[in-house]
Amino acid sequence: MRLYIDSANVEEIAHLIEYYPIAGVTTNPSIIVQEQRPYLELFKEIREVIGGERELFIQVIGECAEEIVAEAKFISKQIQGNVVIKIPVTEEAIKATKILVSDGIAVLGTAIYTPFQALMAAKAGAKYVAPYVNRIDNLTGNGTKVVAEIAQLFSNYEVATEILAASFKNVQQIHDVCLAGAHTVTVAPQLISTFVSLPATVNDIAAFKKQWQQAYGKDKSTLINS
Ligand code: E4P
Repeated sequence: MRLYIDSANVEEIAHLIEYYPIAGVTTNPSIIVQEQRPYLELFKEIREVIGGERELFIQVIGECAEEIVAEAKFISKQIQGNVVIKIPVTEEAIKATKILVSDGIAVLGTAIYTPFQALMAAKAGAKYVAPYVNRIDNLTGNGTKVVAEIAQLFSNYEVATEILAASFKNVQQIHDVCLAGAHTVTVAPQLISTFVSLPATVNDIAAFKKQWQQAYGKDKSTLINS
């Protein structure tokens, strides 16, 4: 499983890159506008922070295939390193995906609510598909089941496209989609931090240290200088 940061906040991204095994950064228009900055400058700064190897996902705004293709080519020229173009999966998106993939531009089909949206994007050549797990759950659908069915379809038809599951509101959803066959997930910074933030672990550490210092002395807080 690879982990992506679903954010455009440079400070949060820099912190998570330092502490966690991060494969890249995903953005969407809502995430970008929250930063209230010129977007090209922001993409370039994120690129500087994450380096050229990690993938940076940038979503198009245009809706017809011609606009999508033009935006994708513009972004690919402006932003260095590994860039993946996110395209919400519509009929126009499928057409644009075929064109962009034949030009060597990597595509992620996003805003996916059904397995067949994912299958069409994949067959058009998308490198990734992003089912919106929490948004599906909010429609009284079952986001995990959608991910499981996409994984089954990809396996049945030997499709190499990866599932990059997105839109989470809690760790249980992430855990469930990983078990259901998601290859990768993109998660908001606040939720990533909760992966290893367990009061039980903090209590255990305190108990270990207390026993240690009772045995070896109050000044012994590491294994160094016994
Ligand atoms: C990721 O690429 C998606 O745009 C994002 O996860 C959507 O999340 P939301 O449903 O919390 O807005």
